[in-house]
Amino acid sequence: MTTIALIGPGAIGGTVAAWLAQDPSFDVTVCARTPFADLQVETPQGLITATPKVLTNPTDATPVDWVLIATKTYDADATKPWLDHLLADHTRVAIIQNGVEHQRLFAHLVPPARIVPVIINLPAARSAPGRIVQHRHGIISVPAGKNGEDFAALFAKTEIEASAHTDFVSEAWLKLTGNSIAIVPSLTLRATGPVWNPDLEAIVRGVVEECAAVGRAEGATIPQSFVESTIETSSKMAEGSSGGSLHADRLAGHPMEIDARNGVIVRLGQKHGIPTPMNKVLVTLLAASGAPWIETA
Ligand SMILES: NC(=O)c1ccc[n+]([C@@H]2O[C@H](COP(=O)([O-])OP(=O)(O)OC[C@H]3O[C@@H](n4cnc5c(N)ncnc54)[C@H](OP(=O)(O)O)[C@@H]3O)[C@@H](O)[C@H]2O)c1
Repeated sequence: MTTIALIGPGAIGGTVAAWLAQDPSFDVTVCARTPFADLQVETPQGLITATPKVLTNPTDATPVDWVLIATKTYDADATKPWLDHLLADHTRVAIIQNGVEHQRLFAHLVPPARIVPVIINLPAARSAPGRIVQHRHGIISVPAGKNGEDFAALFAKTEIEASAHTDFVSEAWLKLTGNSIAIVPSLTLRATGPVWNPDLEAIVRGVVEECAAVGRAEGATIPQSFVESTIETSSKMAEGSSGGSLHADRLAGHPMEIDARNGVIVRLGQKHGIPTPMNKVLVTLLAASGAPWIETA
């Protein structure tokens, strides 16, 4: 029996835990901040339910084979009390978060060789603790190598497609580049498509081009065609469509992953001597919007 503990059973964590719990060879425990009785996830394949063990007190946790972390990036340090009780010498830790800094955020909490950074493309939303809608088919990318391949194998009996990539750096930066545009609707609180004009396009283009330039300096391959299609997606963003989690978190008055999403472009741009004025201005404005912003640097 493979033992798995998932820290952070929100939209992503709850969906992943529910899928893994369908496999009888896994013993899944959920480490929650807010308790719930069971998981009910409406997936593209229908409703799946699970009743994993739900812990809310880290001292009740015991060592496991795999820890999966699906908190927001700014809650990385809050996982320490759980990790203190879940880690054994063999435990591997998968970080399922947006951004490109999985290793950096957890290097002081987990031996780096045992960290598996995970990029997930799986749009999901939580309506209440344990109640989640998975909107589309899920795809997971991890780095090639034994840890990444073993992690991907956990999903073999699920409807989530998981695979290991030799060029994981590009996988992560392509996702970040696609996500980078979300800062604009998060600021304007409306879709970009209906108000698209050359000035707005110049702002969106600046955000995306800066992200791609920094990503390339970090070693990612980001085709110019991907940059153009990301801008085109922004030009077609329909009124009423989801502006993504930054937008949703701002509307809800929650903290935002602004540092992991756009602040990182500015920070790593400075490291490489790449100017990132558009991201810097928009990050500064969003931080000044009054919405809570927790620096993860
Ligand atoms: N949602 C998506 O569609 C999507 C898609 C791709 C990637 N992502 C990325 O996936 C990551 C998770 O996003 P999400 O949308 O799943 O966020 P979320 O719904 O807010 O879930 C985060 C979960 O972490 C829990 N948490 C925070 N601190 C904790 C602690 N100390 N101990 C235990 N649990 C703790 C929260 O507890 P509470 O229940 O008390 O709030 C919540 O259940 C983010 O990096 C996000 O950018 C999300």
